[in-house]
Amino acid sequence: MANVVVVGSQWGDEGKGKIVDWLSEQADIVVRFQGGHNAGHTLVIGNQVYKLSLLPSGVVRGGKLSVVGNGVVIDPQALLAEIAQLKSQGVAVSPDNLRIAENAILILPLHRELEAIREADDSKTRIGTTKRGIGPAYEDKVGRRAIRFMDLADLPALMPKIDRLLAHHNALRRGNGMAEVEAATVYDHLAAIAPQVLPYMDSVWSLLDVKRREGKRILFEGAQGALLDIDHGTYPYVTSSNTVASQAATGSGLGPNAIDYVLGITKAYTTRVGEGPFPTDQMHNEIGKTLGERGREFGTVTGRARRCGWFDAVLVRQTVRTSGIDGIALTKLDILDGFDEIKVCTGYRLDGRDIDYLPAGEHAQAAVEPVYETIAGWKEPTAGARSWAQLPAQAIKYVRRIEELIGCPVTLLSTSPEREDTILMKNPFET
Ligand code: GDP
Ligand code: IMO
Ligand code: MG
Repeated sequence: MANVVVVGSQWGDEGKGKIVDWLSEQADIVVRFQGGHNAGHTLVIGNQVYKLSLLPSGVVRGGKLSVVGNGVVIDPQALLAEIAQLKSQGVAVSPDNLRIAENAILILPLHRELEAIREADDSKTRIGTTKRGIGPAYEDKVGRRAIRFMDLADLPALMPKIDRLLAHHNALRRGNGMAEVEAATVYDHLAAIAPQVLPYMDSVWSLLDVKRREGKRILFEGAQGALLDIDHGTYPYVTSSNTVASQAATGSGLGPNAIDYVLGITKAYTTRVGEGPFPTDQMHNEIGKTLGERGREFGTVTGRARRCGWFDAVLVRQTVRTSGIDGIALTKLDILDGFDEIKVCTGYRLDGRDIDYLPAGEHAQAAVEPVYETIAGWKEPTAGARSWAQLPAQAIKYVRRIEELIGCPVTLLSTSPEREDTILMKNPFET
């Protein structure tokens, strides 16, 4: 039985939610392993639209177990709000189908407040984050002062942990001219929320180990994308977790040998939301505008307009390697329908030299100039195609060229937001 990891291969919003939902029909368990409610995964099923931020996309299908692993940072209020939203859309969510790791880290209001200061418009430290408190929560995790999910189950022991956390945060708050936080305020907030979230708590590493031995199929759902990875991304314009595929093991408590196949989700062009380098950005011209309008490129979480540009094969070639991607699910091919010609970035120029990789340095990343190849477009629609035979010849040529440039096969193709508008070339579970 193959276990499959799905990761974004660009800067997020590649269509992971749609693909995970589609694949989850074949899975028993869907696991989130990093990030938090900075993610926004959109599922379109008939006339229903589901927007998931913290819960695995498999939760909308009956009979699947959804798991939030230890690598995820959890805002308990956001968790309850998402559960309530899903219930209002008729999705059953209970401890029968949702389990959350006892050793996951909690996001608290003080994390959001700290981030709001750092991300203020006039701030010199702006990253363009989702302002969900994700970065500050991971800082506390690594700083060994975070409150964990399991701490809610032992309220008598909570106060010293809050004191330890506040010794750090109140010093920061004083420095930022913010009012200090009272330990009792944090305690009361957590004590009130504890009974509502604790029923979902579980020892996830052990649960997944048992299920795996029983031969259950596990689908790991990545959030963000490889270029937002804290190690391999466009640092410092990244998120605060590892987003590459190997994090699926660390962030769920399984070993790396639990991963049988890595599916990279790749948009047929490129988008980015927030600050940071983006070599093929077309934001300030008609191309970028057209891609943004046709692709409805507005953030699921924040509503911000995404920057849009041509496909960058250099980046995806690199993330195929840093995530060990076996196959690509190419999404939003339909957005390119009707272009006379389409450009693809095949390499960069930096300081008068040709290079075939994204350099690691912040200034070099901002300075690279894309080298483009121009490919003829197609007039017939790919939108809604459900078989390879329905695709225009020129669209097939585009897909084949991308495969060649990134050194990885396209094994799935998505041609609309709809669940069923998906073409399967090779089943990742059958490898
Ligand atoms: P995620 O964060 O990777 O899950 O992606 P988002 O949900 O944030 O953004 C992808 C958007 O594109 C969503 O609105 C999807 O409904 C939509 N989408 C996914 N695949 C396709 C596709 O093949 N064609 C079109 N037109 N839209 C798609
Ligand atoms: P999904 O899972 C796109 C970006 C933010 C910002 C940077 C840091 O929907 O693909 P953070 O709040 O994580 O500290 O912000 O990362 N970012 C995303 N961009 N899709 C996402 O998730 C993102 N999650 C974070 O815009 O540039
Ligand atoms: Mg998204």
